[in-house]
Formats: sequence, C-alpha cells, structure tokens
Amino acid sequence: MALDPAQITRAVALLTAGELVAFPTETVYGLGADAANPAAVAKIFAAKGRPADHPLIVHLPGATWVERWARDIPQAAWDLAEAFWPGPLTLILKKQAWVPDAVTGGQDTVGLRVPGHPVALALLQAFAATHASAGIAAPSANRFGRISPTSAAHVQEELGDKVALILDGGACQVGIESTIIDLSREQPEILRPGHIGPVLLGEVLGELPAQQQSQGAPRVSGSLASHYAPLTPVRLIAPERLLDFLTLERHAGIRCGVLAYDQPPQAGMPHLWQMLPANPAGYAHDLYAALRHLDHQQLDLIVIEAPPDTPAWSAVQDRLRRAAA
Ligand code: TXA
Ligand code: MG
Repeated sequence: MALDPAQITRAVALLTAGELVAFPTETVYGLGADAANPAAVAKIFAAKGRPADHPLIVHLPGATWVERWARDIPQAAWDLAEAFWPGPLTLILKKQAWVPDAVTGGQDTVGLRVPGHPVALALLQAFAATHASAGIAAPSANRFGRISPTSAAHVQEELGDKVALILDGGACQVGIESTIIDLSREQPEILRPGHIGPVLLGEVLGELPAQQQSQGAPRVSGSLASHYAPLTPVRLIAPERLLDFLTLERHAGIRCGVLAYDQPPQAGMPHLWQMLPANPAGYAHDLYAALRHLDHQQLDLIVIEAPPDTPAWSAVQDRLRRAAA
C-alpha cells in the first residue's frame, strides 16, 4: 500500500490536536494518541470501552527514544531492541517519573515498542519531528475484548465513528499482537506470547525467558481469560473428534462454522468451512480476519480444529483459548 505523505501530515496534525488516529502496524492496527497528552490518551479508553487501569503500549520511531520513557534500562533491553526492532516485540521497563498514569495504568513500568510497518514508522518519525517525547500510545484498534483488527476495514467496522482518521496500510503481516516481555524485574518474563517466541528471545538473552502462567487480575489486558473474542460462541475441538462433533451438532440443529487447518470439508458438513494455513505464521496471519468473517454469518457456534499443542503454535493457541473462553 502506497505511503501518502499528505495523510501522514494530517495524522500528525490530528494527534497534535489531541485526536485519535488509527494506524497499521505489522501485528494489528493500533488506535493512536499522543502518549504525552493525558487528555488525548483518555479518549482511547473512552473509544474502546476499556478499563482505565489497563496500560497502553507506547510506540516509538527508534530505540534512541527509549531513555525518554524508561529508566534503569538493563542491557537485555538494548540487546533485544537491536535484535528485533523494528518488529513485533514490546519491552516492559521501569518508567520515567513524568510518564502519565493514563498510559501506564498507574504502574511504575511502561511498555515500549518500535513497530515494523512503513506507515507506522513514517507516522512516528513525522510525529517525533515536532514532539520531543516521540511516543504514540496505541492499543489494538478494536472495542474492548473483541477481535483485533488486521485491516483498515476492520478498524472502520470496530471504531469508525470514534476515530478522526484511519491510515490504511493494507493487511497486517504478522496478524496477532506483539510478544510482550517484562524486563522491569529480576528475571525476564514473557507476559504475552507472540510471533517472536521464547527460543529466539532466549538466544539473545542467553537463557530461556520465563512465561507467565494464567493469572487473576491482569497487568496485561490481553491476558484476561476471555479476550480477542467473537460475539458468536467458540469451541476448540481436537482434530480426531472434529467430524463426530460436527455430526452431533448438525443433528441437534446447531448451525456451525468451522475453522480448520488440516481436516478438509466432508460431504454433508457445514458449508461454512474455512481452511487456514497449516503453519503457525500463516495461520496467525489469517486468523483474526477468518474469525471476524465467521462472526458475521449468524452462526450458533464457531468450531475450531485445535492446532497442535507444540511451542511453535503457542501464540496461536493462546489467542484461540481466549477466543473460546
Ligand atoms: O502488537 C501490539 O502490541 C499492538 C500494536 C497496535 O502495537 N498493540 C496491542 O495493544 O496489542 P493492546 O493494548 O491491545 O495490548 C497491549 C498490552 C496490554 O495487554 C497491556 O496490558 C500491556 O500491553 N501492557 C502495556 N503496558 C504494560 C505494562 N507497563 N506492564 C504490563 N503490561 C503492559
Ligand atoms: Mg488489544
């Protein structure tokens, strides 16, 4: 998708005026506001219907801006930034004293990320030219708890009436939200799995990072048990049970849509049968658009053929479990 300089200029003017601008990243679309302007950040929470104590990720044009936002930065942060930025990795670091509570949810840490999308980077660089903080706070541009948008049309559908401008950068390459790693404490800990997995992180850190187990009150909103969820109920079914399960549902008059990656549709099975790629990156790329599509079909149930329970699929598994919770 071509990069329109006039749109970037307009986006910066809106952000400067305290308005919301949705923009593409390589993971999902973000709902952006000037991160140094608490009144602008408050509009994000209002638009999403998101609880105010859920912290936001601050997007930066490059690692050189990290020290404006964070203090006591461990070497591991610089190493990870060097290895993976711009890219789908968010670092949780101790925050500078000035960082607004509106961004951090009142915590003493801040989430920082340099996204790897040309439109996002152009926006951030243009914004940084007139804003010393250079930070654009942006959660995923969906209503709270719903499926993250991976195209400009999805953002329009979710928040079209609440956002001043939607920058269109085409379909998101990664398709699921960034990996979040907490470096603010003694041991690095993965708070949200993503495209950059523990093995890659471990190669840079020198040891495999811990992974947060399921928790009660989350510091990461994406860690709520139910999240990334369609309005239609979702069930995860093991591949070997899929055909029997669908046969029973059909006899009970339940209208199912199916999201499979291995099992092709059979005669007499639901006509709404979507195949996703049988590899984790391809599956993640298509997942949210497929869920969103099935969610529009007036179904009683979305049945998902459960992908393999292996480390390579852990980020996808995480999103599917939350969609089904
Ligand atoms: O890929 C992504 O990360 C996308 C794009 C737009 O960058 N953003 C995204 O934002 O997924 P959001 O708000 O939907 O999820 C960000 C997560 C939240 O679950 C939030 O709780 C967590 O980051 N987070 C932000 N700051 C944090 C902090 N200081 N400590 C712990 N978690 C934090
Ligand atoms: Mg989100």
